[in-house]
Amino acid sequence: MNTSNKKELPKHIAIIMDGNGRWASERGLNRTAGHEEGAKVVRKITNHCNNIGIKYLTLYAFSTENWSRPKLEIEFLMKLLEKYLKNELHIYLDNNVRFKAIGDISRFSKSLQEIIKKTENATKNASGLTQILALNYGSQDEILRAIKRLNEQDLEVTKQNFENCLDTSGIVDVDVLIRTSGEIRLSNYLLWQNAYAEMFFVNTFWPEFTTNELDDIISDYQNRERRFGGI
Ligand code: IPE
Ligand code: IPE
Ligand code: MG
Repeated sequence: MNTSNKKELPKHIAIIMDGNGRWASERGLNRTAGHEEGAKVVRKITNHCNNIGIKYLTLYAFSTENWSRPKLEIEFLMKLLEKYLKNELHIYLDNNVRFKAIGDISRFSKSLQEIIKKTENATKNASGLTQILALNYGSQDEILRAIKRLNEQDLEVTKQNFENCLDTSGIVDVDVLIRTSGEIRLSNYLLWQNAYAEMFFVNTFWPEFTTNELDDIISDYQNRERRFGGI
């Protein structure tokens, strides 16, 4: 193996930001307080990834399965997302961060869809980090939508054509997958794109996840040997 590659930074980090609810419950707070605190950590981790030169950071914010939560929690999450994106636009622009959404946003309110599109458009020429939010995202849903697109365009079924039809078209596969809160499962997240990801499951609840913990994971990644089926 080429050892000079060993110290390379991951290009693409994907995070399952889990444990907001349990973090809040442990403190006798409403689950929504955990989501609010979690949003602050999104900002911190995004800035850090941008500063150290990561190209893609994909964050699982709302899954296709999360619609099964109580209506009030869903409403809170939708409002929080809208508020977050409105606040964030100037921060993205100041920091040269590009924003992109993956998932089927057509199920969201018109106003939320508009702010998502507006933020994507306003930041589309940024050359720093691309922050990708997975919104009403489920990997199985994404794969089915990709197959429909392939069919509609009458394209031959090849790896390249298929990947071009995924929501993550043009984005390199995941190098580092992190899940917080101690759960060890993928929960329908980037099943195709995680094919060769190095995986890290940490016990920290998302609202307590720090840049130091991320740096430790990156160092650990840099010392892992990725063989991709070779020897
Ligand atoms: C992750 O935290 C955030 C979302 C899924 C929106 P959870 O809300 O799943 O928190 P726990 O897992 O119940 O603690
Ligand atoms: C995954 O977390 C989805 C997000 C982080 C947005 P969940 O808390 O919804 O996953 P499960 O239900 O524990 O698998
Ligand atoms: Mg959870």
